[in-house]
Amino acid sequence: MGTTRNCTPRQIDVLSPVLRMTSGQITYLGRWKKVAEALFSLNEGGSFCAQYNPENTIVETYTLLDGQVDIEYRGTRTKMHIGETMDASCYDKVVTFYGTSDAEILMKMDADFYEQLFYETQTLQTEIDAVALVDGYTYHHCDRIRQYAIEVWKRMDQPKSRLKLLRWGAHFHDIGKLAIPLEILNKPGQLTPEEWEIMKMHSQAGANIMRAHPVEWLKDAAFIVEQHHERYDGKGYPYGLKGDEISLEAAIVSVVDAYDAMTTERVYKKAVTAEEAFEELIRGKGTQFHPDVVDRFIEIYQKKILA
Ligand SMILES: [Fe+2]
Repeated sequence: MGTTRNCTPRQIDVLSPVLRMTSGQITYLGRWKKVAEALFSLNEGGSFCAQYNPENTIVETYTLLDGQVDIEYRGTRTKMHIGETMDASCYDKVVTFYGTSDAEILMKMDADFYEQLFYETQTLQTEIDAVALVDGYTYHHCDRIRQYAIEVWKRMDQPKSRLKLLRWGAHFHDIGKLAIPLEILNKPGQLTPEEWEIMKMHSQAGANIMRAHPVEWLKDAAFIVEQHHERYDGKGYPYGLKGDEISLEAAIVSVVDAYDAMTTERVYKKAVTAEEAFEELIRGKGTQFHPDVVDRFIEIYQKKILA
């Protein structure tokens, strides 16, 4: 940010110029002419995806200032060098940044687009914090589900233009549990049939929360929340959709949700091993789960998790 520019930074209408996430934090620096600048302090082990840029016509660059970062595109990882700038408009599929140490990245983006995104993401963070207060398990579960879902989406070669909906649909798939009484949500032992009927209401309750949300595109992700307990054979809920009537996004969330639930210990059940969970997913191929999604998920994670 040189001093020769004749524009002054403008404060945007956000709760704070700092946005904290599990992967690190973003500090909004300001806008000069039509370009916003922000500093992404990425944690070691953290990752994030380049943003939504459907027409490849808006400014979106990332410059590594310090630390070590890998970029992954179409399954290939390359190392970024300090001072190197990555221009997201040159890529037509999802690009992911991985911090291999703590790192500082200067982001530049079209200011109107970026400020809107920053405000919306900050608003969503307050929802995420609300979920964390009610149920710590759900909070960490949501974070993992989002990561798994993004990886499967990339492996299935799906467009980056729909990634934003998947990311937040996956993250908030169980937001409807905010409407379920805690004594049912955390009950040790089996639910009664009546309690189970109440528990099943969380997918529609969640979709209603999404559709009433002030962040506009969150409404567009509501279908993922609504369908995440549908089954490939039509025996799921709430609508009994089958096969390709279920969106690919919801089919992905269904698989990654089942895997994470199986491999996590809860008050009412022990965790199974990753290998047992993979076997269970394979058993459910074509009945509970979309077969291609199971195959892609296992391709990605069997090597990583069982290595
Ligand atoms: Fe659920």
